[in-house]
Amino acid sequence: MSTNQPRRWPIALVRLFAIIVLLQVLLQAAFAGGFISGEITYLNAHSINGSMLLMTVMLLGGATILLFRPGRGPWWPILFSVALWWVCSIQVGIGFARLVGAHIPLGAAIMALSGGFVWWSLAYRQRVAA
Ligand code: HEM
Repeated sequence: MSTNQPRRWPIALVRLFAIIVLLQVLLQAAFAGGFISGEITYLNAHSINGSMLLMTVMLLGGATILLFRPGRGPWWPILFSVALWWVCSIQVGIGFARLVGAHIPLGAAIMALSGGFVWWSLAYRQRVAA
């Protein structure tokens, strides 16, 4: 492979973690549905998955750094991951504080952001240097 060829593995890592993040967010809504329906054990699952989500978003952040260098990709996904991590931390905070009126719309916003990012990562094509 020529040295001008961009590396493929950084975008593969970004896609992997972006998809795991989206699945975890979908799972959060499913667990919420479970305990709202009266099955209280789902609240514990929702709490554990919420904390694990923060770790996965951190791994996504690491992957976006690798996409930038050595992957020679764009820089903004790094900022996106940092912002997503902060929003998810706020979500965990307002979840424990039981501010459900803010927690549910913020959960929907996190889902939209995560879904949009998965779409971008799958559509992303690396430019080959001349
Ligand atoms: C998107 C990521 C989400 C994260 C990180 C998150 C995190 C949390 C956490 C940490 C708690 C506290 C659990 C406990 O008290 O042990 C909580 C509570 C809760 N969450 Fe979420 N959540 C998310 C999404 C959602 C969604 C999408 C919904 C609803 C559709 C939802 C509904 C609730 C409800 C109803 C509570 C219980 C509040 C109470 O105990 O009165 N959450 N959440």
